[in-house]
Amino acid sequence: MLKVAVVGASGYTGIELLRILHCHPEVAVACVTSERSAGKTVAEIFPSVRDCYTQVLEHLEPVRVADKADFIFTALPHQAAMEVVPTFMKLGKKVVDLSADYRFRDPAVYEKWYEPHMNPEVLAQAVYGLPEIRRAAIAEAGLVGNPGCYPTSVILGLAPLLHNGLIDSSSIIADSKSAASGAGRGAKVDTLFCEVNEGFKAYGVASHRHTPEIEQELSLLAGKEVTISFTPHLVPMDRGILSTIYAAYTGDLPVEQLLELYNDFYSNEGFVRVLPPGAFPSTMHVRGSNFCDIGLTIDRRTGRVIVVSAIDNLVKGASGQAVQNMNIMNGFPENLGLDALPLFP
Ligand SMILES: NC(=O)c1ccc[n+]([C@@H]2O[C@H](COP(=O)([O-])OP(=O)(O)OC[C@H]3O[C@@H](n4cnc5c(N)ncnc54)[C@H](OP(=O)(O)O)[C@@H]3O)[C@@H](O)[C@H]2O)c1
Repeated sequence: MLKVAVVGASGYTGIELLRILHCHPEVAVACVTSERSAGKTVAEIFPSVRDCYTQVLEHLEPVRVADKADFIFTALPHQAAMEVVPTFMKLGKKVVDLSADYRFRDPAVYEKWYEPHMNPEVLAQAVYGLPEIRRAAIAEAGLVGNPGCYPTSVILGLAPLLHNGLIDSSSIIADSKSAASGAGRGAKVDTLFCEVNEGFKAYGVASHRHTPEIEQELSLLAGKEVTISFTPHLVPMDRGILSTIYAAYTGDLPVEQLLELYNDFYSNEGFVRVLPPGAFPSTMHVRGSNFCDIGLTIDRRTGRVIVVSAIDNLVKGASGQAVQNMNIMNGFPENLGLDALPLFP
């Protein structure tokens, strides 16, 4: 059994990790941390795991965590992650970090959009953890920077088009909508019930921090610098991300063949489902699962291809993808613990 720690177990991605790991046959959760709830059991914070987890939440002391676990998930806010990840690495532990701290190839990009980076030398060892694009490197990695939720939906939606040079890469617009759990469990006015319920708004317009992460990966796929327009929205749901992505179509394949190309690109990918012609995804049909559903069409009137992708932000957009990465890093079958079908209705 692989002994695992969930650092930041009292947050939304932390409890989602615990939910998924409970059904993982090769893993034992050996350590869980929280600052504000240290001393309480996980079930006291999350009654959903009553009788399934009896562990007591501890303060985050990196050496003690590393003593107890061989594999560590850091489900912390950015900056807090980079304070502890180097210690885990130094002590020979493998890490999947769910924050943005280890997603960027160029520390200057991180510093422009986030804060100063405390350990660029550790960042240089990290692999961007999108398995469908970078599986081989993930398998060899000691540290994986787990992708952001919006980036997962946009990059998977566009990868076959960019890889095959079928769109004008300067014309991309990604219009994405996220559920409120994307903002984490910490109390904030913006995510209070009355601020979210019955409303639908854009935020981070032309400035959201996921923009450079999406651009980094799309540029690598296209083999040239890609700049996009990305507008996130907050919708009154608990879980889910739906991205509608537009780009000028430069290919000459009809939509049926374009879908075949998507099916070929993702033919070995158990978690990406390409929908048939005329069908488009819904967050409702991926909820609680590690699936990314993709539908697309060509709008002949405007000359644009329109791709729609849906994920559960807490699963394929965070904790499910983190477990997928853990499986790859440890040589486990990639779907272990991740076979749950979407929760519908
Ligand atoms: N939510 C999503 O959909 C999503 C998707 C992809 C990636 N992410 C990323 O994943 C990370 C976790 O997100 P989340 O939504 O789970 O956040 P969250 O609900 O706010 O949980 C944050 C966790 O970190 C702990 N924590 C906060 N500050 C800390 C510090 N200084 N030292 C030690 N522990 C600290 C909290 O513990 P206490 O408050 O109990 O002390 C809590 O357990 C973030 O970096 C986020 O950007 C989130």
